[in-house]
Amino acid sequence: MSDNREHFSSRLGFILAAAGSAVGIGNLVGFPVNAAKNGGGAFLLMYAIFIFMICLPVMMAEMAIGRKTAKNPVGAYGALSDNNSMWRKAGLLGVITPFMIAVFYTVLTIWIFIYLAVVVSGNLEYLASPAAFSEIINSPYLFLSMAVVGSLVYFILGSGVKDGIERAAKIMMPALFIMLILLVAFVLTLDNAMAGIKFYLIPDLDKISPSVISGALSQAFFSLSLGMGILVTYGSYISKQTNIETSATLVAITDTAVAFIAGLMVMPAIFSFNPDINPSELSDSSVSLIFVFLPKLFLALQATVGYFFASTLASVFFLLVFFAALTSLVSIIEVPVAYLMDEKSKTRKKALSTIFIWGGLFAVLSALSFGMVDWLTSLTSYGGKSKSLFDVIYDMFYDTILPLNGLLICLFVSFRWKKHNLNQELSEGNETFGKSVLAKYVDFSLGTFIPVIIFVIFINTVAKIYFGYDMFG
Ligand code: PHE
Repeated sequence: MSDNREHFSSRLGFILAAAGSAVGIGNLVGFPVNAAKNGGGAFLLMYAIFIFMICLPVMMAEMAIGRKTAKNPVGAYGALSDNNSMWRKAGLLGVITPFMIAVFYTVLTIWIFIYLAVVVSGNLEYLASPAAFSEIINSPYLFLSMAVVGSLVYFILGSGVKDGIERAAKIMMPALFIMLILLVAFVLTLDNAMAGIKFYLIPDLDKISPSVISGALSQAFFSLSLGMGILVTYGSYISKQTNIETSATLVAITDTAVAFIAGLMVMPAIFSFNPDINPSELSDSSVSLIFVFLPKLFLALQATVGYFFASTLASVFFLLVFFAALTSLVSIIEVPVAYLMDEKSKTRKKALSTIFIWGGLFAVLSALSFGMVDWLTSLTSYGGKSKSLFDVIYDMFYDTILPLNGLLICLFVSFRWKKHNLNQELSEGNETFGKSVLAKYVDFSLGTFIPVIIFVIFINTVAKIYFGYDMFG
């Protein structure tokens, strides 16, 4: 282990950084709408079971691999497999995936930043107009916004693990919680708020179908930032005294709690905006919910609280989403940066510059694929749909390769690194772990049903996206 590798300064710093990665756009809007549409309390329960029974062992394995080797995913897979070239390739997938996901996540983050800037400058009314979204995503402000977001990320990552990533999480995560709670407190005072809460929470078992179950598991997996090499990389910055079991559990609890509480903000707001709404009509995509529906909802609030206060609430909301997106973006860009530092002996600044040049190029091309440049907008077509560059990156890396990476982690731990080694690593800083029920559960599940379940989801996603066929449909 290299002595000069940077470390998080404390367990709390690590937990906040990992939770900062996990809490993202998916938690704030994706989860609430999915839950409301797909069985309410029944979905919630199922989601929580998936988080703790399936995702938590994978999360612990990723952190343990990172800490054991003190390396990025390529170095880590290599170190634990005698530099086997196949496993190093699996590690490479664990570096390319976050790089490409960072590309499309950057595009979403720069849109959010523009929305924030527009609301703060008093133009909520414009944001709520029908043309706003397509005008904004095709405007030159994109590049200005990209420069601002890029500089922030560069500044955070350039300051290193402790003074950059950890410090940013220590500021943004508590701020995020406070903003979330304030918004929930306000939303609950609105007329008809209870109807939203009821819709959100009352269990409806009839809605639970195989496709909802598979969707819930994918959502849980993505929400915890698994399969992106992030937790391997963050795990490489923790000390042997850190208890991985409790840290991972706290990250999972925080992520689930934020998703749950976000529902208490979003659903009552939707119902108070339109008491007759049927949530099954709500769009599936978080994107149209944040960028098209919510601005209208905030503007409607002016009738009761006035334009200024409605704009303030919208500003708080977009700042909240921006913080959530920024901490996720930082975590995901750190993975290729760590790779270049470890494997190509680059300094942090050089590694960052390389990633920024290439990532920036891809991000610009993706941002242009919403109409500004024709060939990028209709790049290709598959599964019966025309696809832009942004769609291709999203489908390939976020939807397809992510579960594959999760599967590879399970197989690697079970059949190459071996589970007694995992167990030993998880016992560092946690002496009693080895004999616990959880240890037995992790040991058993990672080599049996977890990879099988992830494999089924993977096959179904491939069939659905590329061949237009849903096995669970
Ligand atoms: N967990 C994030 C979310 O829910 C997903 C993510 C993490 C995306 C890290 C990018 C980087 O939105």
